[in-house]
Amino acid sequence: MVGKKIILAVTGSIAAYKAAHLVRLFVKKGAEVQVLMTPSATEFITPLTLSTLSKKPVFTQVIAEHEWNSHVELGLWADALVIAPATANSLAKLANGICDSIVSAVYLSARCPVFLAPAMDLDMWKHPATQANVQRLQGYGNHFLPVGYGELASGLVGEGRMAEPEEIVAYLDAFFQHEQDFSGKNIMVTAGPTYEAIDPVRFIGNRSSGKMGVAIAEQFAERGAKVTLVLGPSKLAVKHPNINTIKVESAQQMYEAAVQNFEQADISVLSAAVADYRPAVVAEQKIKKKGENMTLELEKTPDIAASLGKMKRPGQFIVGFALETNDELQNASEKLAKKNFDFIVLNSLQDAGAGFNFDTNKITILHRDNMRKDFELKTKAEVARDIVDEVAEKVLSLKF
Ligand code: PMT
Repeated sequence: MVGKKIILAVTGSIAAYKAAHLVRLFVKKGAEVQVLMTPSATEFITPLTLSTLSKKPVFTQVIAEHEWNSHVELGLWADALVIAPATANSLAKLANGICDSIVSAVYLSARCPVFLAPAMDLDMWKHPATQANVQRLQGYGNHFLPVGYGELASGLVGEGRMAEPEEIVAYLDAFFQHEQDFSGKNIMVTAGPTYEAIDPVRFIGNRSSGKMGVAIAEQFAERGAKVTLVLGPSKLAVKHPNINTIKVESAQQMYEAAVQNFEQADISVLSAAVADYRPAVVAEQKIKKKGENMTLELEKTPDIAASLGKMKRPGQFIVGFALETNDELQNASEKLAKKNFDFIVLNSLQDAGAGFNFDTNKITILHRDNMRKDFELKTKAEVARDIVDEVAEKVLSLKF
């Protein structure tokens, strides 16, 4: 953590007293710490204490004593933004983009990874509104430190305690350690659905949102890789500077973009839900309603994964996906072998919260030697991290 620039944003909870210890631990690790506080946090611990420990003035307002504390500059300066403690109120504001304090202004401006350590009473933590806010913030790619279990300030016992400062520092340490492990690697990710035109107004598509593939692209990019994202029709905006997005619509276009970029890719992750069939003829004009029935003749689309599997040269690594509804393991292992993947990520529509469009997914990773890893239901950002960790374990020890 030596030389890392950390913003510690403290919001108004009794756990704010732990911020003093947290600042000390960050400073001891060699980090530069800038503390921000909401006005209510200053009721629990004084800015003087935190500025003495961080050796920097503490900011509590965007405008203070006729001076402008630029939230944009702070947001760009930081390597990490840690919001600890994060109250139920601040989670609600951040989840909804409400910008009424220096903490929320810096949060909205920050381009660095954001870590939140919630602290609140157990019923507040369990409330569906808080849980929905947590899910939304996780969906934006923020990292959550798990809340602790124990006695709370109210005297109640349960979940809601802020993670201990030592745990927060250890989490960030681990994050920074493998932060740039894919630096110098070229990655190609396919993501999203494909649309196969029937006529100028209609198409055959599927329910993929692109969330899973985009999360994977972002995870590689955050870890220093140069990523080419071949993205089917998706509403997602991808902004990471290390990601070059090529937007496509049909399976044919995705195939062409993938083949063109495969040569330079050290690692390819094929998470797109590609149509297997498309209309054999695309009508030039809108098809008019005529008889009771209508028959559409379909033809096979190119199998992108199988084609890349054939082109794969030594040193290249391909991760495939399998979306199944039945006989999951058998179907996935057949695809793993047939398409020449190095490992395959299986997700099943039988699992609640897994597959299309959810912010969560539940996966199993299958290797060619039958080694298998089952994962819990997690946010797609966390699933992406697990997949990229698995790639790191297999690939980074090899020389390209
Ligand atoms: O986008 P989200 O809403 O987040 O949803 C994520 C997801 C469910 C789409 C994703 O997790 C997923 O499972 N993607 C693969 C979907 C799929 O089409 O699986 P499949 O079992 O039909 O295909 C097997 C593999 O071959 C996949 O790697 C697929 O990308 C690839 N394929 C399939 C057909 C084809 N013509 N070309 C291909 O490259």
